Amino acid sequence: MVLYEVQAGGCLQGQLSVPGDKSISHRALLLGAIANGTSSVSGLLQGEDVRATAEVLRQLGVDIEYAGDVTRIHGVGLHGLQRPAGPLDLGNSGTAVRLLMGLLAAQSFASTLVGDTSLSRRPMGRVVEPLQRMGASITMSEGDTLPVDIAPVVGLHGARHDLSIASAQVKSALLLAGLFAKGRTAVHEPAQTRDHTERMLGGFGYPVITDGGWVAVDGGGALRGRDVSVPGDLSSAAFFLVGTSITPQSRIVLPSVGLNPTRSGVISVLREMGASITVANERVDAGEPVADLEVRHAPLHGVAIGKRQVALTIDELPILAIAAACAHGTTVVAGAEELRVKESDRIAATVSGLRALGVTVEERRDGMVIEGGGGLDGGTIDSYGDHRIAMAFAIAGLAARESITVRDCANVATSFPDFPELARRAGLRITVRDVE
Ligand code: S3P
Repeated sequence: MVLYEVQAGGCLQGQLSVPGDKSISHRALLLGAIANGTSSVSGLLQGEDVRATAEVLRQLGVDIEYAGDVTRIHGVGLHGLQRPAGPLDLGNSGTAVRLLMGLLAAQSFASTLVGDTSLSRRPMGRVVEPLQRMGASITMSEGDTLPVDIAPVVGLHGARHDLSIASAQVKSALLLAGLFAKGRTAVHEPAQTRDHTERMLGGFGYPVITDGGWVAVDGGGALRGRDVSVPGDLSSAAFFLVGTSITPQSRIVLPSVGLNPTRSGVISVLREMGASITVANERVDAGEPVADLEVRHAPLHGVAIGKRQVALTIDELPILAIAAACAHGTTVVAGAEELRVKESDRIAATVSGLRALGVTVEERRDGMVIEGGGGLDGGTIDSYGDHRIAMAFAIAGLAARESITVRDCANVATSFPDFPELARRAGLRITVRDVE
């Protein structure tokens, strides 16, 4: 098991380049694979989740080459994917498995999708059921989980999907299936989620129709291969935004971070808490807003985070909980029940971790109430194999009175393989140990 041992104290200083955005990396591979012609992607995340997507695309007959920082995808066109020889293993990645389900549901060959223990517990009905309404033939395992068997189909038909869960993964899967369907596939979500799929489809020359909160595609078009430059992942940058904010004498510069407004809720929430974050050199690269961030230590105070902000900060709530524990006053997180079905139950994992550090926190079905300002003790935290829980509690070491040990950290490699090295260079007193 991989442990992080973090000595208390220290501060963060310097300039850090965070790895490529995970959501955009998956989409660049998937759209590149079904485009006509070659796509060159720079800055693709080299994490395990994205590698799982690339590996599965290879099994589906797509040639993907790594040449230094550039990944070349030789697209096979919308109808060029081939029957895989065996089950397709997406490891820990919910995004990979759900987006691929959208693509595979429309194929004239069968496929089986599997994942690791965590992914095999996560709900798949949310994507399978709307795909079935489009004519897909998919069988889930007990409890609507993986493994999932997808039977060959002659064709799908478009449908209107008024979703009850705000999920970019579900929306994206349906739009991807819609590329192959007869007629129009339209999706409406209860709260705006990340729109990378819509932006990138447009970038690959595929028209996306937006109308009164609905987003839609008409089937039967074609994608043109293109060059994509993947910005730094704001979800990875968030650990340093919080670590710097909570630690006196800290100042960090994070160049070229993606600032898509459907993702940047963490910056608004931290600013509302009193954080000092400057956005400079704003530009648009391959359809995605990008900027350089500078953050300095600042005293924080508690805030209320509600449903609308939850959709825009969904992956940053564990590290925002660390910010809340270090802030003066109470922070209330509500409308965040989706956190219970992420790589771990992130409400339970965050609450038990904070309690282990002596923080007063109330667990609620859809969130938590954190009493900040009492300081953090040291202790041992279980990350439950969840990369973002592991990194959040490692960062907590900066503000703790005693050292913190975080257990089960190997999955940090899914999204941020060099987190310990980058964090150590910036000033976090972190040691990685591999124990029996
Ligand atoms: C993602 C969407 C989010 C997010 C996940 C990445 C994506 O999940 O939590 O880490 O790339 O589409 P949901 O869409 O299920 O909320």
